[in-house]
Amino acid sequence: MQKRFYVTTPIYYVNAEPHIGHAYTTIVADVLNRFHRLMGYETYFLTGTDEHGDKIVQAAEAAGTDPKSYADRISALFRDTWPKLNISHDDFIRTTEPRHIRVVQDILQKVYAKGDIYFDTYRGRYCVGCERFITDRELVDGKCPDHDTPPVEREEANYFFRMSAYQPWLIDHIERNPDFIRPERYKNEVLAFLREPLEDLCISRPRERLDWGIPLPFDERFVTYVWFDALINYVSALGYPDGELFEKFWPVAQHLIAKDILKPHGIYWPTMLKAAGIEPYRHLNVHGYWKINEGKMSKSRGTVVRPLDLAPQYGLDAFRYFLLREMVFGLDANFSEDALVQRLNADLANDLGNLFSRTLAMTGRYFGGTVPPFGDPEEVEDAALRSDLERAVGIYREEIPQLAFHKALMAVWDVVNAANRYIDHTAPWDLAKDTARRGRLQRVIRTLLELNKTVAVLIAPFMPQTAEKMLARLGIERKALDVRLDRDAVWGSLTEGTAVEKGDALFPRVGTKKETPSAPMPVEVASEAQKPAGVREPSETAAAPSQGELIGIDVFQRLDLRVAVIQAAERVPKSKKLVKLLVDMGETRQVVAGIGEHYAPEDLVGKTVVLVANLKPARLMGVASHGMILAAHDAEGLRLITTDAPAAPGSKVS
Ligand code: MSP
Repeated sequence: MQKRFYVTTPIYYVNAEPHIGHAYTTIVADVLNRFHRLMGYETYFLTGTDEHGDKIVQAAEAAGTDPKSYADRISALFRDTWPKLNISHDDFIRTTEPRHIRVVQDILQKVYAKGDIYFDTYRGRYCVGCERFITDRELVDGKCPDHDTPPVEREEANYFFRMSAYQPWLIDHIERNPDFIRPERYKNEVLAFLREPLEDLCISRPRERLDWGIPLPFDERFVTYVWFDALINYVSALGYPDGELFEKFWPVAQHLIAKDILKPHGIYWPTMLKAAGIEPYRHLNVHGYWKINEGKMSKSRGTVVRPLDLAPQYGLDAFRYFLLREMVFGLDANFSEDALVQRLNADLANDLGNLFSRTLAMTGRYFGGTVPPFGDPEEVEDAALRSDLERAVGIYREEIPQLAFHKALMAVWDVVNAANRYIDHTAPWDLAKDTARRGRLQRVIRTLLELNKTVAVLIAPFMPQTAEKMLARLGIERKALDVRLDRDAVWGSLTEGTAVEKGDALFPRVGTKKETPSAPMPVEVASEAQKPAGVREPSETAAAPSQGELIGIDVFQRLDLRVAVIQAAERVPKSKKLVKLLVDMGETRQVVAGIGEHYAPEDLVGKTVVLVANLKPARLMGVASHGMILAAHDAEGLRLITTDAPAAPGSKVS
């Protein structure tokens, strides 16, 4: 049986331009859609715009135009934004389209014929922002808590949907299907609401007051209340009642929303469906709010984050990754550009970017840029890495359908970091020195290539461009939407002899505001050709933790610190600061240090120092340097770090 998946976003009001909140929900829907495709599902993904109602009329008036032209303009803004964020939706519905209007009227007619819509006079408090009458117990200090405005008294003859009749059914349905509304806190919120008697829902507006809506099929003097109209988009877009898409995808429908519209989706919509004789949706997935500086986004305070300003600046994939990694689905999260840059530098440039570039650089250096055979039999550390990867795949498959995107990504990053450590332990640069260990070198590099391939597959739903780029460089030409886990992540599926290409950095590192660009000395990076054999494969970038940030031991362990003894020292001509040193660290290294103003060269010989041995080689005033010696700085000057008793040259410092 073909497995299917149908996901929707809210249809956004056309009274505001797309911002990060809209972008988040839509990117989450996109990740879910791509994930299910990756798992071999037939998928359908719907988004769109909600264009009727008071709010739109008011916004159009404020913009000095009519509702239709206004809706056309803002709807187009949404439609044009999504491709730029790589959203893979199949359809974009507008509630002003005839295909939608038809279905709304069809459903109204059905429910009316059944006797679940009746005419009555209602008097109550109406919130214009919510476009609905609100109950006294919803008010906070006499105001609508969502809009911070007092409601207005209103009396009106209108049509009502007999929602109360479906209250017992809804409670029972939620209790029998514990993941109908998830995460659980939102299910509980709906159940708490249902503990009080449900009022019937006013579903019409007199046309003399509001003309911008869908006329009721049984009384042309009224238009449909915007929520009764809007919710129906989820089935009208599928061609309800007899469309093929409806038949295929409605039984597996999952809605994605933020907590602001829980009530219409958790209460109105399922009861409307029940009354219309349509099966309820499968899941309502509810997330929290993005806040800016711990507050709600606000136009007037200028704290609305526009995704299209940020995505091009930091890279679309980095932006998508950040949103999915940072927010725990269901809880609020705070958005800050600094946090985005930190994740970009640490997780993407440093962890993933380095793993990929080190792997491909070594494939280039040791195997002429082609995939080697597996070589020697698997050793314990190879098998351990492989089982780390299998574990990550297991967590990933388990957590994404539960919407725990951050857990899935953490599992993938655990294995990325394990692979970086594996490179350090297996030290391919040492294996490369010994022809007898060629088979072992093959095993290590092939293991890394296979692992990078699977990582590329796993990140495809989150970072489609990066996944495509990684796979292409591994010799696999595949569009991200066509990647399949069971075909493309098979261990050993790379073909021996295939050319791979290192290419440029996947994620260039970005400077943060807090960070002072204080390299210890000006450096000019040595070219690949100048790199002596036996030098460790350096990291492409190094994320400097910002002040106060804690690092894991794994970050520290990536430093190769060694005891070294200075054998010779001389000034670099024409430089006051630079001294050229030859140090013994088990092998002799040339290092250039900026200590000439603090030490005379002749005083340095014989001193024991600590050397950062895996620093990228650099040239300082034309002299090559293969490491950096450590020193303490204070107001008095600079003092070299040494050991408190003699230690053998090359000893590890940790
Ligand atoms: N038109 C209705 C939805 C009708 S669905 C049948 C509507 N539109 S809206 O433009 O206000 O969009 C609300 C949705 O935008 C939220 O549910 C959420 O998906 C997204 N977000 C808007 N602001 C948000 C945040 N600050 N944080 C996260 N998402 C939020 O309501």
